[in-house]
Amino acid sequence: MTAPDEDKLREQALATLTTARDRTTLLTSCVEDPDLTAQHSPLMSPLVWDLAHIGNQEEQWLLRTVAGREAMRPEIDGLYDAFEHPRAERPSLPLLPPDEARRYAAEVRGRVMDVLESTAFHGTRLTEAGFAFGMIAQHEQQHDETMLITHQLRTGPQALTAPDPEPAPLFTGPAEVLVPGGPFTMGTSTEPWALDNERPAHRREVAPFYIDTTPVTNGAYQAFIEDGGYDDPRWWTPEGWAHIRKNSVFAPLFWRRDGKQWLRRRFGTTEAVPPDEPVLHVCWYEADAYARWAGRRLPTEAEWEKAARHDPAGDRSMRYPWGDADPGPERANLGQRHLRPAPAGSYPAGESPLGVRQLMGDVWEWTASDFLPYPGFQAFPYKEYSQVFFGPEYKVLRGGAFAVDAVACRGTFRNWDYPIRRQIFSGFRTARSGDV
Ligand code: AVJ
Ligand code: FE
Repeated sequence: MTAPDEDKLREQALATLTTARDRTTLLTSCVEDPDLTAQHSPLMSPLVWDLAHIGNQEEQWLLRTVAGREAMRPEIDGLYDAFEHPRAERPSLPLLPPDEARRYAAEVRGRVMDVLESTAFHGTRLTEAGFAFGMIAQHEQQHDETMLITHQLRTGPQALTAPDPEPAPLFTGPAEVLVPGGPFTMGTSTEPWALDNERPAHRREVAPFYIDTTPVTNGAYQAFIEDGGYDDPRWWTPEGWAHIRKNSVFAPLFWRRDGKQWLRRRFGTTEAVPPDEPVLHVCWYEADAYARWAGRRLPTEAEWEKAARHDPAGDRSMRYPWGDADPGPERANLGQRHLRPAPAGSYPAGESPLGVRQLMGDVWEWTASDFLPYPGFQAFPYKEYSQVFFGPEYKVLRGGAFAVDAVACRGTFRNWDYPIRRQIFSGFRTARSGDV
């Protein structure tokens, strides 16, 4: 690799680390200390845990592993090890108080600035093309998304504000498009900051299928509710049916019926559910049931990625639906620029060659698939990122949401969660098999 390439990557590493820290600062300075140390939901950590965990991971990987430095505070490592303490337990730990957590994360970052200057971006797999720095920027952004989920679960006055997306001209395209059958390249072996579960690139055969050109909207989802969708076991898997009965699930999370209309709570305000926006805060069971009710199904993960990356003209896989260029604000709703998805049919500049819109950003999209390793998968640099989660208990989500930063969102990026989870920024689109 030539020096100019390395300079560019180093600049990119610095920019993405700085963007992540600015977001972390926003998310942890918009509420008072008691809101940082409180647990707003048993599903989430106190915000102050995420803050120090961000600093601790950065210290472990960039200062200790990459630069060979001594531990700054070895006694706190255990507190911030996600596997040692489940989320529900974290508020009872002797966590660093907010000011100390801030100081610790800032101290780590200050030292990382020197390490970034002096580390060669070649020679070892961990530092090749700045991977470790990119991995840590992605890790911080993933926890920023987690903290945004905590903010959404928190009750009380509004703490965060952002402008709404531009109103979109009415989308007049077709409701679905046919994706031709045949092999395509899934995953990547060349994207420098792709994480282990996205690797390696491999060929996948996909039969022809139709896929929705936009995510399923609140309006469409309301029709499922009004049609008695939650009262009819025909639409649900046995596990899904048992789950919604036992837990009285009858609408997306944060929705409340008010006479004839639906209201939703969103970051401390209550508003009428906007019919044109992609539905948000549904679990996999709900997405799966809606699709069956609609006479359709969820796309498999391979179908989703083919729809998002396949260039029918060049028979190759692109980095994003629109090509290889990095996402910008005209292509996708990413990076917490807005605190909601944009209306279905927005972002014409982000559409795929076949005309599929909003594959990147807006809402995470549930797929039909379990989270499994690709053929040739190798855990890197630690098996607790992906490997320990592979198996049928997790479903894959694709495409990112308004809460996801571009550094942690690609055509190959894989997210996963339990099929009951809906505090995440999850929606979906549907598919059906093509005629053979
Ligand atoms: C990829 C979003 C499932 O938050 O559990 C953060 C990301 N891994 N720290 C998670 C992650 C370690 C992970 N997800
Ligand atoms: Fe983490």
